[in-house]
Amino acid sequence: MQATERPTPKISKTAIWVAAARAVGAREPDPSARNPDHLAELLLGDPAALSLEHPTVQALTQSYDEAMKNAEVVGNVRFMTVRTRFIDAALERAIADGATQVVILGAGFDSHAYRFQELLADVRVFEVDRPATQAFKRQRVDEALGGPPANLTYAAIDFEREDLPGGLARYGHDPSRRTFFIMEGLVMYLPEAAVRATLAFVASHAPGSSVVFDFFYTPMVEMIARLQTLDVPAAAKTSANRFLSMIQGEPWLSGLPVGGEREHLRELGLTLREVLPVGGAESVKRYLTKADGTQVGAQTLAGAMARMADYFKSAGPGESTGPAQAFAERMREQQRTMVYQLADAVVP
Ligand SMILES: C[S@@+](CC[C@H](N)C(=O)[O-])C[C@H]1O[C@@H](n2cnc3c(N)ncnc32)[C@H](O)[C@@H]1O
Repeated sequence: MQATERPTPKISKTAIWVAAARAVGAREPDPSARNPDHLAELLLGDPAALSLEHPTVQALTQSYDEAMKNAEVVGNVRFMTVRTRFIDAALERAIADGATQVVILGAGFDSHAYRFQELLADVRVFEVDRPATQAFKRQRVDEALGGPPANLTYAAIDFEREDLPGGLARYGHDPSRRTFFIMEGLVMYLPEAAVRATLAFVASHAPGSSVVFDFFYTPMVEMIARLQTLDVPAAAKTSANRFLSMIQGEPWLSGLPVGGEREHLRELGLTLREVLPVGGAESVKRYLTKADGTQVGAQTLAGAMARMADYFKSAGPGESTGPAQAFAERMREQQRTMVYQLADAVVP
């Protein structure tokens, strides 16, 4: 894959961010809407030592009820609960279908190898990440869990700079075996050529191999790239700036063509089995609805929506061409092109 001019980031801040969202979601009292990643908090360790100032990291120092009063934390927790549960289910299905290798690309604080030790007892697992992030993760695994399971191999590969098939082969990976790939929180951080090459590599595996990944459509990725120069309403400025600073060393680079994911995957040799919009009605019903029928974070979200509606109302008709109006139009466009999705695809 192509070398890039960008400097290699140190420990991935975005990996800490999403693991923190899983850790908070794992504190949800109701198991029907809880994030199953009960190891995220243990793997992260002391939030103060994580060098990331973010409400979702700070939430780890608060009670769950207190933390879930913050709409940004609620948003992060909901997205991650859907994502973890969708991926956990795909992993279980892949093993039931005979996968004997699992490759976790851009693993960060991924906990599947540790949470699913029984299920994966006869499966070879590879965690791939850039060296600095992987070294920190390994240190935390040693400290928090007393070391990795015997079937797990850490492959320190930056696959934008190094050839992924060759790199994995060095660690004993065998593409002739039915393999399950996890590309969680990864597509947006890779250049397009690397996304295509990685998916084509997945497709080169034994039939029945599969991959689960999340993605945005290209307009959303382009919007993030322009965020610095957009008229973000005052109410959203702090979180937008925080997000920009977090991804400074890990810019968003790639998305999939709007509505074209099935064709895109087909061209690369993969058959799309399911695509699930995260935050859409189906994902909420499946993963975020509690036993009493209410949703995780519903009250906080309702409050945030009401404040947003007031904000747009107060902008008034005289400001129809102002920032608020422009933002409202972008939000409408977002509903069409800026959805965040999870996909499950198989090698035919
Ligand atoms: C948003 S984090 C997601 C981490 C983990 N998959 C999760 O969902 O919790 C992105 C991860 O991808 C890794 N990553 C990004 N580009 C990479 C590359 N070119 N080679 C290897 N790892 C990469 C980062 O180091 C980081 O761990």
